[in-house]
Amino acid sequence: MKTESTKDKILSRRTFAIISHPDAGKTTLTEQLLLFGGVIRDAGTVKGKKTGKFATSDWMEIEKQRGISVTSSVMQFQYKNRNINILDTPGHQDFSEDTYRTLTAVDSAVMVIDSTKGIEDQTIKLFQVCRKRGIPIFTFMNKLDRIGKDPLELLAELEEVLGIESYPMNWPIGMGKEFLGVYDRFYNRIEQVRVEEKDRYIDLDEEGRAPESAAITQSGLYDKCLEEIELLSEAGNEFSEERILNGELTPVFFGSGLTNFGVQTFLDTYVELAPPPQPRHSTEGEIEPTEEAFSGFIFKIQANMNPAHRDRIAFLRICSGKFERGMNVTVARTGKQVKLSQSTQFMADDRHTVDEAVAGDIIGLYDPGTYQIGDTLIGGGKAQFQYDRLPQFTPELYIKVTAKNVMKQKQFQKGLTQLVQEGAIQLFRSLHLEEYILGAVGQLQFEVFEHRMKGEYNVDITIQPMGSKIARWVEGEVSENLSSSRSLLVRDRYENKAFLFENDFALRWFQEKNPDVKLYNPMEV
Ligand code: G4P
Repeated sequence: MKTESTKDKILSRRTFAIISHPDAGKTTLTEQLLLFGGVIRDAGTVKGKKTGKFATSDWMEIEKQRGISVTSSVMQFQYKNRNINILDTPGHQDFSEDTYRTLTAVDSAVMVIDSTKGIEDQTIKLFQVCRKRGIPIFTFMNKLDRIGKDPLELLAELEEVLGIESYPMNWPIGMGKEFLGVYDRFYNRIEQVRVEEKDRYIDLDEEGRAPESAAITQSGLYDKCLEEIELLSEAGNEFSEERILNGELTPVFFGSGLTNFGVQTFLDTYVELAPPPQPRHSTEGEIEPTEEAFSGFIFKIQANMNPAHRDRIAFLRICSGKFERGMNVTVARTGKQVKLSQSTQFMADDRHTVDEAVAGDIIGLYDPGTYQIGDTLIGGGKAQFQYDRLPQFTPELYIKVTAKNVMKQKQFQKGLTQLVQEGAIQLFRSLHLEEYILGAVGQLQFEVFEHRMKGEYNVDITIQPMGSKIARWVEGEVSENLSSSRSLLVRDRYENKAFLFENDFALRWFQEKNPDVKLYNPMEV
């Protein structure tokens, strides 16, 4: 048997994240994909692990929750000669900067939309991060087994709310109880619901019609579908693989994760159209994934589930070459050499030691405190380049923190510094009072912070909630006199100044009064 070259292995990788608003059906779809990949045997394996409601004050529960995010962070399976890596983007209470950063480590994204609800908040935020990277975005309109929004309206939302053009790969014939199937424009066939595999597909003729002998043609829903297909052909966007790969056009699939309808067709098309590992920009220009030298970057650091061990797991996206366990690498930021002897890969609910991995893959590295988020690792004894810094994300929720016991200042500082380095929370200091202010994308991060300060650093903290704020960084210098309770001037941990505005109104009012102060949102730069 011919052995696969490293290059072949790299080109077989498809690494993506599923983005969605909570409850749109991400877990259900992931599970179906894993079933097709043969990684799990029963539906419910991934889903059953969702702890659902948990008492946020219960540290063990949070640990459990976080543990789950560790083990299910990356799911790998093989399908049709492709090696697929799905990266989890935690939602619900676990939504954090990590969720955003995960999107810097993928080559494409699958956006799941609940067709009964349309485009929701969290989807918009995650979409924008993908959009900025220009990665291809595949859309799965879910829950067609329920009566949802009109499909044309859903397409209009994609364009109006997200500003992305779309190309429906298939089109629903009815919905809810009367969902008969989809008209597949890509494979030129009709795929029917609740029909055995051998009869499920009806091939269409050159004009895109089903043979009249097919029962489905008797339905008014079929006629309606044909009318809409005609409309799409005349007024809709043209299919363009190039535009899909540039992230300008999203292919849209209608289906139902729960009843497993349309998922396999989606997967088949996805593996055809989705890109292999892409080059990544560095201080030395673009680095091709097929370059021989090993390189990668850390996009996430997660503390060990067991508080008795302070070690952490750093998640590395391999960007070029091949990883072999035991190899020596250099951390570009520090020049420090490290032997990578403890490495993990994740498989649904399991993790195991990984001996070999290639560009496109994600591995977990044991981290005794060596790495920081955004670090570049390069094979051998010298680091010739660094990958671009990871984007900064704008926190939305803020708290003030102090140590309850002033004698514990030293541990307080230490814990604060280390936990901020992990990147789930951002640290600010108010200019006059030098208060410690923490900002996060999701509320859970504060609770995790409080518990870890106590559990790992033995420091009780006092939290004073500040609520949600709009943070805008300042370009250049700014007078400290402009700081007020509604527009609080703070410094981030890199000493850059930013204002925390009470609300949108306060932001606009400030801009009107101070047109010379240049403000920016790092997520929009
Ligand atoms: P998430 O990971 O995006 O948060 O969503 P998840 O898959 O957990 O799905 C959220 C809810 O939507 C679940 O119902 C799930 O069964 C349901 N769902 C997912 N896909 C479909 C679909 O295609 N059709 C329909 N009708 N429902 C779907 P739940 O009641 O919250 O959970 P459960 O009690 O069923 O487990």
